[in-house]
Amino acid sequence: MTHVNELIKTGYKILKQNSVSTYQLDTELILSNVLNKPREQILTGLNKDLSEEIVESFFKLLLRRARKEPIAYIFREKEFWSKKFFVNNDTLIPRPETELMIEKTSKYFYGKKPFILDVGTGSGCILLSLLKENQNSRGVGIDISNKAIKVAKDNANKLGLSSRSKFYKRSIDETLVNKFDLIVSNPPYLTNSQIKNLPQDIKAYEPGIALKGGNDGLDVIKKVIYKSKSILKKKGMLALEIGNRQYIKVLKFLKSNNFRKVLLVKDYQDNVRCIISVLEN
Ligand SMILES: C[S@@+](CC[C@H](N)C(=O)[O-])C[C@H]1O[C@@H](n2cnc3c(N)ncnc32)[C@H](O)[C@@H]1O
Repeated sequence: MTHVNELIKTGYKILKQNSVSTYQLDTELILSNVLNKPREQILTGLNKDLSEEIVESFFKLLLRRARKEPIAYIFREKEFWSKKFFVNNDTLIPRPETELMIEKTSKYFYGKKPFILDVGTGSGCILLSLLKENQNSRGVGIDISNKAIKVAKDNANKLGLSSRSKFYKRSIDETLVNKFDLIVSNPPYLTNSQIKNLPQDIKAYEPGIALKGGNDGLDVIKKVIYKSKSILKKKGMLALEIGNRQYIKVLKFLKSNNFRKVLLVKDYQDNVRCIISVLEN
């Protein structure tokens, strides 16, 4: 029989040896997942015995983490905007800074009935969170990845939003016939050199197509802006998440495409990470 505290100590040691900086938290989360009990409850029962089966499941997951697989992929779940989303390595893991976009954008549409397009929807986290915020909204999510679209549809079903959302495998380059009140996008925006320097967790596990924005990181951002001109309704809104230090170039591109800046949203490190603008007619 193995005690909880013995297993936790071994877990810490293995993850630490494998340079997992969050080795304590991750060990505890993995045990909590395997036991299907809150982490706090496990930490107050350190002398309890664990079955062989539990120990085996624990090590299976722990060794994946030791190889730097992100916790969200190991658990196939990530919390975003207070909801649990399915994720797998066909979809980017939703990031907390993207929640800023939900917070700021949804405020413009209280009491309205916006028709929303989410470009590069991935797990569907942005569109589905906006739909949760506004019961009168509907929306479409597109993604170049068929596998991501499948995950987004699963999330729509899980969150009870399939009647107000549609998801299609489509590139922003392709024809889109509808006109939208709001276009949101967290497109791939990392530069080639940023991609080379990514930590192993991201580089080896998250889909490259969700990250690569070309030489200057702006390839897809520019396509989204350009396309939005023809598929936004009059005075329609575009909310774009962008990378660090891209906002001056993106603002210029927006202006030259007839968009007027409404709001710059900064992240917790004080970088502009989201630009909200309106199409001038
Ligand atoms: C940074 S991820 C964002 C995923 C999700 N919206 C989120 O915020 O977690 C970018 C997404 O854009 C998709 N993508 C890349 N190029 C695209 C294109 N040309 N048209 C549509 N989607 C694209 C990728 O497959 C990926 O799912």
